[in-house]
Amino acid sequence: MPLEQDLQDVAIQIAREAGELARRRRSEGVMIAATKSALADIVTEADREVEALIRTRLTEQRPGDGFLGEESGADRKLAEGPATGITWVVDPIDGTVNYAYGIPSYAVSIAAVTGSPEPESWQALAAVVFNPASGELFHAARGHGAWLDGERLAVNAEPSAAGALLATGFGYDPATHAGDLARVARVMPLARDLRRIGAASLDLAFVAAGRLDGYFERGLQPWDHAAGVLLVTEAGGLVGGGGPGRTAGTPMTVATGPALFETLLRAALGE
Ligand code: IPD
Repeated sequence: MPLEQDLQDVAIQIAREAGELARRRRSEGVMIAATKSALADIVTEADREVEALIRTRLTEQRPGDGFLGEESGADRKLAEGPATGITWVVDPIDGTVNYAYGIPSYAVSIAAVTGSPEPESWQALAAVVFNPASGELFHAARGHGAWLDGERLAVNAEPSAAGALLATGFGYDPATHAGDLARVARVMPLARDLRRIGAASLDLAFVAAGRLDGYFERGLQPWDHAAGVLLVTEAGGLVGGGGPGRTAGTPMTVATGPALFETLLRAALGE
């Protein structure tokens, strides 16, 4: 089996186990463990427990790989350069605020990337975004398409005459809100409507599935977009942003079908 599909299978199996743990902990009641970059940026006990489970399973199954996770950061192998050249980029519960409030839009996001573990230069090989509340599991292997539970995904080639159904997100730091709202004002003329789903990995999975025409957000971290970006590109979409070489990343992430890409990117960047 090609490496990409092998990695995808590992990610699917671990995401299902991790998602089941997240769902169970949610049903038992969620404990906020700490706040992080801002008061609104929370981490729950479940985020930490789920990430620890994913990390343990990856170490068991892929001992030579590196690890970069939202809650526990990078491991020593990553700094040294993992023996296999592969790094796992993990958000144990993307959409933590939804999770804490009981909104069923959160996901386990797992990607295997190769090359330097920087989003500007890495190449994603395999990706899984699993929403345990809905049971939907989106997955992709580089060169082998993006899938939702056995159904091959394709982005919307172009938005309808009514305009594009778009999604975005807002950073936790209140100092970023005015800029984010100004961006929304610039983008709205392209939109038939705008969603704020609350989990970047699901926003990207929904672009891949044609449930959204496009998505844009400033401020994403590598674990927020590592898996979702591969879903979009394997579904025939385009992803870019405001970083070096216009790659997706913290300065900006834009994902759409081919027809809308340049227009939405320019509006999002204010060009
Ligand atoms: C957040 C979600 C949210 C996005 C934020 C992310 P987290 O991830 O993806 O939709 O707007 O930028 O930080 O904190 O829930 O893992």
